[in-house]
Amino acid sequence: MEKLTILLVGSGGREHALAWKIAQSPLCGRLVAAPGNPGIEAVAELRDTKVTDVEGLVALAQQIAADLVVVGPESALEVGLADRLAELNIPCFGGSAQAARLETSKAFTKDFCARHGLPTAAYGVYTDAASAGAFLDTLTAPFVIKADGLAAGKGVVIAADRAEADAAVLDMLGGRFGSAGARVVIEEFMHGEEASLFAICDGQTAMLFGAAQDHKRAYDGDRGPNTGGMGTYSPPPVLTDALVDQAWRELIEPTVKGMAAEGCPYVGVLYAGLMLTESGPKLVEYNARFGDPECQVLMLRLESDLVPLLLAAAQGALAAAAPPVWREEAAICVVLAAEGYPDAPKTGGLISQEPDFGGEAVVFHAGTTLDAEGRLVAAGGRVLNVCALGATLHEARDVAYAALGTVSLEGGFYRTDIGWRALQHY
Ligand code: AMP
Ligand code: GLY
Repeated sequence: MEKLTILLVGSGGREHALAWKIAQSPLCGRLVAAPGNPGIEAVAELRDTKVTDVEGLVALAQQIAADLVVVGPESALEVGLADRLAELNIPCFGGSAQAARLETSKAFTKDFCARHGLPTAAYGVYTDAASAGAFLDTLTAPFVIKADGLAAGKGVVIAADRAEADAAVLDMLGGRFGSAGARVVIEEFMHGEEASLFAICDGQTAMLFGAAQDHKRAYDGDRGPNTGGMGTYSPPPVLTDALVDQAWRELIEPTVKGMAAEGCPYVGVLYAGLMLTESGPKLVEYNARFGDPECQVLMLRLESDLVPLLLAAAQGALAAAAPPVWREEAAICVVLAAEGYPDAPKTGGLISQEPDFGGEAVVFHAGTTLDAEGRLVAAGGRVLNVCALGATLHEARDVAYAALGTVSLEGGFYRTDIGWRALQHY
């Protein structure tokens, strides 16, 4: 088969993991990343085009004659990158702006769930505080209040009491998240353990693509503010095969069928954030992309070639594609974050240049850049992802933390308990 030219869009740890895996494919002839990061530069050519610069990315795809565009972040989908590429018949792994509403509009997704009878929390969507308050009257604490649109992971408030809930509603409707908060979604609180389940979709067909468990809180013991994710591991034993089957039948399949029936076929990654409740898996949220840092552990565990699957999904040919093959080992990813993350991450902190990543450890760059003197420094909240495979999760954990001990980031911090749920019970 002829080698492919692939354009990867994004610059985080997720994209470094994707680039690392794509570059190992015998099908990959040339890999270009926009805008990429210093870690991605080791395996791809970088181009300085922003992920929301649709015309710039389209021009780049044409200039390099891309055979496939792989989109990392949802922000590129929201502004219609996949739609523009479709007009030009350039295969794109990533959904249309309409399809990406499963992530970009919580109200759309909740209404979609209601139309198709998908298991999720009871909810209401409101544009005024009085009606929101009337719905809150029917619920018991804790209360879940969400801004409708994208709010960089900060648009969700779990309020311990009614006063806090009312304040959050007023805050969002008052414009704290701009237009993203013009509508608020109020939900019933679901109890259980969370897990992330992934499917690759081509518009009609969905293929299971593994699972992972994230750690959203900033500090050990699941304390502190919510973040984009401080660490992951895969596979998560709590998500048994029976639960995966149930989530597949009750959520993923009807979602892909429902989106196609509603005229916006779903292409790309369908990432289901699940709550494993006493009455089965329920949807917390959908994302239209790989999780970050869930993607990192999936890429480490993926034994088979990623590129044929991405291409088949982009070309509507998944039904004939071979499913992914996973390594037996467990994988873990620990995020090294900048001082002040998530509220006010301090950039510019110096990162030690030559950490010892012996054993099975792999480091993926997230928010890094080179300063004027060519030194590697922090450029974002989550800076490095230290990942490892191991025969058991315990072994993977030991390798990753040993490697982390050899890296230094001024003021940086990481959680020391990634994987604790599985490590405690299995
Ligand atoms: P989201 O951005 O919708 O994923 O929400 C962020 C986090 O808030 C989730 O990962 C959950 O931990 C929590 N959360 C959101 N919705 C609910 C809910 N209805 N019940 C319980 N926890 C929730
Ligand atoms: N790690 C959670 C997310 O990517 O949304």
